[in-house]
Amino acid sequence: MQNKFPSDSVTVLTDLVLPGETNPLNNLFGGELLARMDRAASITARRHSRRICVTASVNHVAFNKSIPLGSVVTVEAKVSRTFSTSMEIYIDVWIEDRESGIKVKANEGIYTFVAVDEMGTPMPVPPIEPQTDLEKQRFDAALRRKQLSLVLAGKMKPSEATELKALFTT
Ligand SMILES: CC(C)(COP(=O)(O)OP(=O)(O)OC[C@H]1O[C@@H](n2cnc3c(N)ncnc32)[C@H](O)[C@@H]1OP(=O)(O)O)[C@@H](O)C(=O)NCCC(=O)NCCS
Repeated sequence: MQNKFPSDSVTVLTDLVLPGETNPLNNLFGGELLARMDRAASITARRHSRRICVTASVNHVAFNKSIPLGSVVTVEAKVSRTFSTSMEIYIDVWIEDRESGIKVKANEGIYTFVAVDEMGTPMPVPPIEPQTDLEKQRFDAALRRKQLSLVLAGKMKPSEATELKALFTT
């Protein structure tokens, strides 16, 4: 399978925060943001693999900044690394200042998607070739995130998580 670049499948979704999507503090409800991230990441995974893709795991989400009612929110999802049938998708969330138009990073998330056939059987995906420094950094760290996710899901023994162990022994 031919290598692809993260820019080939990047997905950018921009939308407003409306009253029905907020918590009692009038900030965007966390579950609504998770859904927007899942939607953007799912499109990216599909564009990269050209297959049906399912969310296998939400590996990490950081709600660093609250997002007030009326904000313009941009969710950008890119493939950070591929393995055999799975893809790690890194999602950056930005809010846009109304007057200046300047975008400020608000939150981020890391999801794992698996490409499947019509029967739900995992299928191979094309390799990814990171290009920018940030893409390379995220690519390098993705294997230990995959191992951590598998250990937490009870799908890998901690003793087999070589990359993860190396973090604590170097
Ligand atoms: C995701 C799913 C296809 C994995 O099926 P499976 O039988 O565990 O298949 P495998 O063990 O072959 O795993 C497939 C890939 O997923 C990866 N994977 C599975 N669980 C994972 C997890 N918790 N974290 C990270 N990667 C995971 C495996 O490492 C493997 O990756 P690789 O082939 O790139 O090395 C299956 O569990 C499923 O269909 N889940 C439901 C998905 C869904 O409906 N999502 C929407 C939420 S309601």
